[in-house]
Amino acid sequence: MVRNFVSRIRSLKREKNAVILAHNYVRGEIQNIADFVGDSLELARCAMETDSDVIVFCGVDFMAETASILNPDKKVLIPDLGSICPMAQMLAREDLIEAKEAYHGADVVLYINTLADCKALADCVCTSANAPEVVEAMKSDTVIFGPDLNLARFVEKRTSKKIIPVPEYGLCPTHHQISADDVLVGKKKHPGAEVVVHPECVLEVQEMADCIASTSGMVRYCSISDVDEFLIGTEIGLIYRLERELPEKQFYPVSESAVCPQMKMHTLKKVEMALELERPIVAVQREIGDAAREAIERMLRLS
Ligand code: 13P
Ligand code: SF4
Repeated sequence: MVRNFVSRIRSLKREKNAVILAHNYVRGEIQNIADFVGDSLELARCAMETDSDVIVFCGVDFMAETASILNPDKKVLIPDLGSICPMAQMLAREDLIEAKEAYHGADVVLYINTLADCKALADCVCTSANAPEVVEAMKSDTVIFGPDLNLARFVEKRTSKKIIPVPEYGLCPTHHQISADDVLVGKKKHPGAEVVVHPECVLEVQEMADCIASTSGMVRYCSISDVDEFLIGTEIGLIYRLERELPEKQFYPVSESAVCPQMKMHTLKKVEMALELERPIVAVQREIGDAAREAIERMLRLS
């Protein structure tokens, strides 16, 4: 059955000159057939550089939107439209407008985990791979930053800027539930393991880590570290990629329940259907897309 899907997907990809881009958290079956698997920054770059006519984006809504903004003339498909990032939903355009009025003159840096209508109001976008360097590059001393409060705290500790978080308590439900106790339990079981976490984790967890990085940054750290056991503090889909690329090393999730259900919605069957029907299409209204593109491209120039 799986073999049938895979061969059908391969032939549809050739027929339609399509590329499959997948985030590090998607199911293993999707990571196996993707042309590229990576973090948000790598995927945005890949989407910008591809010469394919169709991009099948196996990730959440804001990632597919970003690909579409960077490629307004290409067809961007998302296999399951329900793949919506709850963190991106936490920032309302109205809250951002209010913050801009309250902190007049402050630059706005938005995490890529936001929707296009908010990105259109930003001076620059950032990802977990470049947030401190992007924020430091802003002209103003005060920077409005959203929606993730944990990433905002991470940035605040690594830059000279005063950070105004918008909304006040934006978070990723998957990462926010990973606790310092989970890390302690993991360290007790695996005393020789290094702790590698994502900056969407709470500050207490970040402070216990040997490395804090984007999902692909976590993979790079594990590949160059002399240690061969790691406690991984992020969505558990990353473990699949780590085990595939570094089979000689051991990886343990800090929390088994750190699952992003929206990332798991894409299946081989849905990828095949998306390619076959060329639906569902992700498109962004031209005016919003043009404004958002400026903020995304500024990030790509800065990092
Ligand atoms: P990365 O850009 O580090 O892959 O993170 C994206 C994300 O949604 C993490 O929850
Ligand atoms: Fe959004 Fe969190 Fe899922 Fe990442 S893991 S896509 S931030 S809900």
